[in-house]
Amino acid sequence: MSPVERLRSLTARKPGPASDRTDVPGSVLALDVAETAVLAEAAHLLACAPDTEPEDFCAQARRAAGVVPGRVRDRLAAFAWGCVTDGHLLITGLPLPERVPPAPPTNHGCVAAGTVTTRAQAILNECVGHTLAYEAEGHGHLFQDVVPSRAHARTQTSQSSEAELDLHTEQAFSALRPDYLSLACLRGAPDALTFLLPAKDLCTVLTAQERRSLREPLWTTTVDQSFLDTGLILSARVVRGPMPILRGAEDDPFIVFDHDLMRGISDEAEVLRTTVQQRYLVRRIGLSLAPGEMVLIDNRRAMHGRSVFAARYDGTDRFVSRSFVTADPARSRHARPGNGRSVAAAFC
Ligand SMILES: [Fe+2]
Repeated sequence: MSPVERLRSLTARKPGPASDRTDVPGSVLALDVAETAVLAEAAHLLACAPDTEPEDFCAQARRAAGVVPGRVRDRLAAFAWGCVTDGHLLITGLPLPERVPPAPPTNHGCVAAGTVTTRAQAILNECVGHTLAYEAEGHGHLFQDVVPSRAHARTQTSQSSEAELDLHTEQAFSALRPDYLSLACLRGAPDALTFLLPAKDLCTVLTAQERRSLREPLWTTTVDQSFLDTGLILSARVVRGPMPILRGAEDDPFIVFDHDLMRGISDEAEVLRTTVQQRYLVRRIGLSLAPGEMVLIDNRRAMHGRSVFAARYDGTDRFVSRSFVTADPARSRHARPGNGRSVAAAFC
């Protein structure tokens, strides 16, 4: 038995019935009944609170990641290595609480963080990287309640519902942006679509000249509204760049983009920014997250947005647990006091 086979045999769990196993290639990882049960059991062992004990909570999640069935860990490891289809991985079959709590009216609390679903999300996050919080985003919480807010209904923030969330990569303005965006759904809304456009797909509908120009530092961007609202970022540091939109491998390009906040430094660059948006409207993928589904978006390889959807503000609205994951904690070490889990606003 090879070392790898032995490792797999040590960590293997009894598979579910054949009819429960759904090994779908591509961008979907469907957990079977047995895998969901293992994850639920592991999630219940996370005793710390992510909002008040983030380091201990993540240490528990990382330890629990060791019991995640080998098939699931292998798939998440492949995703982390860069085997990414359509810029994301949709994981279905996460455990759900017996009673999903009502969607809170604001994102101030940590309601989702108390559920088995978010704890399972924390474990899966630690299989691909390291969960990070940002002091100036989502009240600094490691796991944030993404719910529609009446006060923010028409803003370009995750709390909107009446305005489409424009095409962007997360924290385009910051060198300390997360590598992955992790969204786990507690309660869905069929009309709420998470839109995605992988950079690789975008490049297939651009000319060679357009692709070359996108690799030039021709765009500036400003800071996300959600970060500015905290008042922790100085106005002198609001404009960033100029920067390129595309970089990296020709056959696996990385992208930084924000249709709302980015501007070209020339007329030609502005036309190109608009071209990216136009291609997105034609090529984008739409995912409507259902309860127990989690999507990992590769923030280097794909842009995302969100559709308009109907909000009722009565506790029955869409309720998603959001978190950010880094592949390399060393990159933000200087910005995380005490080697903690939170990136200080002053460094974003
Ligand atoms: Fe976003």
